[in-house]
Amino acid sequence: MDKLLVIDDETDVRYAFKRLFDMPDLEMRMASSGEEGLSLLKEFQPNVVIMDIRMNGMSGLQTLEAIRQFDTRTPVILMTAYGATQTAIEAMKLGAYDYVLKPFDIPKLQKLIFQALKASRDMTKPVSFENDTASLDDELGIIGRSEPMQEVFKLIGQVASSDATVLITGESGTGKELVARAIYQHSPRSEHSFLAINCAAIPESLLESELFGHEKGSFTGATQTRVGKFEQSHHGTLFLDEIGDMSLPTQTKMLRVLQSGTFERLGSNKPVEVDVRVIAATNQPLEKAVASKQFREDLFYRLNVVRIELPPLRERGKDIPLLVHYFLRKFSRIYKQPEKSIHQDALLALQGYRWPGNVRELENVMQRAFVVSKGDIILGSDLPSEVTGPAAQSSTRLGKENLQREASRDTAIAPGESGVDPSSNPASDDIDAMLKSLFHWARHHPELPLMPMVERELVRQALREVQGNQVKAARLLGMTRATLRKRIEKFDIRQEINVD
Ligand SMILES: Nc1ncnc2c1ncn2[C@@H]1O[C@H](COP(=O)(O)OP(=O)(O)OP(=O)(O)O)[C@@H](O)[C@H]1O
Ligand SMILES: [Mg+2]
Repeated sequence: MDKLLVIDDETDVRYAFKRLFDMPDLEMRMASSGEEGLSLLKEFQPNVVIMDIRMNGMSGLQTLEAIRQFDTRTPVILMTAYGATQTAIEAMKLGAYDYVLKPFDIPKLQKLIFQALKASRDMTKPVSFENDTASLDDELGIIGRSEPMQEVFKLIGQVASSDATVLITGESGTGKELVARAIYQHSPRSEHSFLAINCAAIPESLLESELFGHEKGSFTGATQTRVGKFEQSHHGTLFLDEIGDMSLPTQTKMLRVLQSGTFERLGSNKPVEVDVRVIAATNQPLEKAVASKQFREDLFYRLNVVRIELPPLRERGKDIPLLVHYFLRKFSRIYKQPEKSIHQDALLALQGYRWPGNVRELENVMQRAFVVSKGDIILGSDLPSEVTGPAAQSSTRLGKENLQREASRDTAIAPGESGVDPSSNPASDDIDAMLKSLFHWARHHPELPLMPMVERELVRQALREVQGNQVKAARLLGMTRATLRKRIEKFDIRQEINVD
């Protein structure tokens, strides 16, 4: 359960929060002054604090300073009146997570709070390395006994204590983000912040300002000065995910900040000095990008000081039974149901599959199997046909080279592109039921074009589901990224972008 503390002396604002964030898995408490907020903070231990800057008694800035005396991590978001950016910048320097302008842009506010809650989970949810995490309820495990994973654990242990830049590589779903968090949590910087930024999810034109900040008026749409993630992560750790998607000009600035610890906000020539540990990840082979001049060679070497390569799941079959049991335990906890076991044949099918989506795909398959299985043993029939079907069996006989080529494509293979006949994959009862109600609705709205509407909605919702990350949305939809881009254009879907 996430916990949010709202500190504001205006009753209306507290009321608005009560209504806006009334959700089952979020617990909220209200304080009407900085003093009250401080005393609640210790008792309630919120994951995120949102607080007004201007309050009677202790101001937001004073309260923030007091919070930071004993808690350097909990994300604190400040609310400020439009135009009062100077104070907002002051707040960022004091260690605020971000600020929002009043009156609120509600979707932006919600997005920010969800981001902050995620950042808080990243910082606090422990990541352990052991194989048996049954006793630890709220812990994320990196499971693996295979040799390549043992190597990974060793490296994590070795690099965690230093400030060395780490480059984590591996196919999609192999656990790169998990490893980044483990390094952070085992590092001396774990008392400070860990912020993650996904370079593929932010349009190229905005990434530079997201990282380095900008001065008011430095480009169209820059209506307020903004402090970037580097400044925000002072003394902390910054995780740059999908770094292969960074444009060349931004790479140049990156190189400089890694070399000298300084940079300038966009539209300013005043250097800002920061002390930030960078962990980067990519699922694209960066060496290739270097060869084709899409990625700076000097930056590549600067990032590649320590390289942690996560092996694809199909190369560590030994870990599959461990992971399967780990996920089954996890879902029995989540769904509050007795533990289930797995039939030998089903386990063999899982071990024979080539897992293009790696551990994430295995996790999804196990979740589905847990839910659909009738008894307390997971059977082969509870697994999706791509795992057990003839296509799965023949694909395990494909040459290794072939597999690697297919798996390194940036999207999953869509039906019809992979040679898998979509008609052999009958819709589940759930989908059947959904379609029935959709047709029912369409009969009552003959004026609306069903296909394009559904298609547009699918694309929109998929993007929302993955916070705008096109690579992930394409994978979710089972289409290539190029096809997704065409759909975005065709339906004029504008992604929500945080400019200020
Ligand atoms: N070794 C592991 N043990 C347990 N869970 C794992 C392991 N590796 C990955 N996972 C789980 O699989 C999912 C995907 O992991 P993660 O997000 O770290 O992958 P990723 O490499 O960053 O993927 P992408 O390239 O798609 O961003 C997460 O839910 C994570 O908890
Ligand atoms: Mg990732």
